[in-house]
Amino acid sequence: MNFELKPLSLVEAASEKCDVLLILLADGYKPAKDGFSAFVARAIKDGDAQTKAGKLLPLYKHPMTQATRVVLVGVGDGSAKQVRTGVIAAMASVKSETLKKLVLVFPNATTAPSVRSVVSALADASYSYNTTKSKAEESALRDVLLAASNASEVQATFERAVAVVDGVDLAKEWANRPANHATPTLLAKAAQGLAIKHSKITCEVLGPKEVAKLGMGAFMAVAQGSDEPLRFIVLKYSGAARSQAPTVLVGKGITFDSGGISIKPAAEMDEMKFDMSGAASVLGVFRTLATLKPAINVVGLIPSCENLLNGSAVKPGDVVTSMSGQTIEILNTDAEGRLVLCDALTYAERFKPHAVIDIATLTGACVVALGAVRSGLFSPDEALVKALSAAGDMAQDPCWHMPLDDEYGEGLKTSFADMANVAGRAGGAISAAKYLQRFTAKYPWAHLDIAGTAWKSGASKGATGRPVGMLVEYLLTPRAASLASK
Ligand code: BES
Ligand code: MN
Ligand code: ZN
Repeated sequence: MNFELKPLSLVEAASEKCDVLLILLADGYKPAKDGFSAFVARAIKDGDAQTKAGKLLPLYKHPMTQATRVVLVGVGDGSAKQVRTGVIAAMASVKSETLKKLVLVFPNATTAPSVRSVVSALADASYSYNTTKSKAEESALRDVLLAASNASEVQATFERAVAVVDGVDLAKEWANRPANHATPTLLAKAAQGLAIKHSKITCEVLGPKEVAKLGMGAFMAVAQGSDEPLRFIVLKYSGAARSQAPTVLVGKGITFDSGGISIKPAAEMDEMKFDMSGAASVLGVFRTLATLKPAINVVGLIPSCENLLNGSAVKPGDVVTSMSGQTIEILNTDAEGRLVLCDALTYAERFKPHAVIDIATLTGACVVALGAVRSGLFSPDEALVKALSAAGDMAQDPCWHMPLDDEYGEGLKTSFADMANVAGRAGGAISAAKYLQRFTAKYPWAHLDIAGTAWKSGASKGATGRPVGMLVEYLLTPRAASLASK
């Protein structure tokens, strides 16, 4: 989709030829002096158009416009949230194969949050997955023109938002692909593709031999139940001097999670193709970085394999040695995410990172705790918590700070190894985080449990591309600023 931003007034936007013109009406709409603005004001005054978020007044071939269809769209107080509500409602009402060009106008001056919100809502509303269909149901929407009188003030925000949308779309694409079209090998190829296309990105892919040499016994234990070979993907974005410590993103890349010998029930098991959404979000972030070229360094680590069960599968009670040297009793093979992540977290040490953030569809317990609204944020580092929470709010991709009291980790004790990979059912999202924390002593660390936010179930089943928005916002916020607000 092509996005463009132009400094146009309402009446100027109305004279653009297009299939649909969306006019966003916030509380306190002030009409300009032209006839079309007066007409809109009249529609509000008569109560036919309303500024309440999501209220729509559709018009057809209005003589004062060049648009085929016009929708007056209530966006309430004009906040990012209400703008999203309005745009999503409007897009649902105009969805059709003939919608190729859309113009969206902010009749009064717009704001950075509104622009961000509009771009992401339009992209979400027009996204469609096609890779494994014989005939693409490509959404026809090609060109989007945003019109605002103060366009130049929001130009930078606009460009960032468009780049984020590309990253979000890439994350959705890989997360949505079924497991037989998104194997660890194919994920690695996608990462290598990013490196080939963009000069500031490099990619190294390790296979079973190299991973064995590193001593990643926990990661290997998960992979050994599948015929599909594991991949450990190392992406680097170098936008700043080598001396600048990188931020490391670690994405869980389980391309299918059957549970292993501790097998999952059949119902909805297909959704475990989404268990590499953390990995997909790392790819998405790199895609956005490639476009924006910020002066920062970022490393992306993706431990990727299937969690299946064959004759060599790891068994409950097996003890393995992680790369850190700590031994782990695998009491439940379905708690595999933490096993692949812990070795990646140890690998991250070599980058002497500024911070390490892991992103994982880690626990059903997190879905129970926070639902689909906020991702779980776990970190003992106050500055990281602040920065990530603020970034999530800004990007409309919010998270919630969860506790890490040591008592939550007590259930991981076992008589047969340094730790077990599961504790009791209670507080399951937190004991998973406590397990990971044992591998993160050497750097500031945060863990994002995206089990509830990475995809939607039910009729509109599909990946959300979260938390690409939050992560990009975090990475692009100057460190000095995040430290100053500590
Ligand atoms: N990938 C799942 C977590 C998951 C479950 C995400 C449902 C989204 C929806 C993870 O590997 C898993 O199976 N976790 C177990 C852990 C348990 C065995 C301690 C879980 O949550 O049940
Ligand atoms: Mn599992
Ligand atoms: Zn899993």
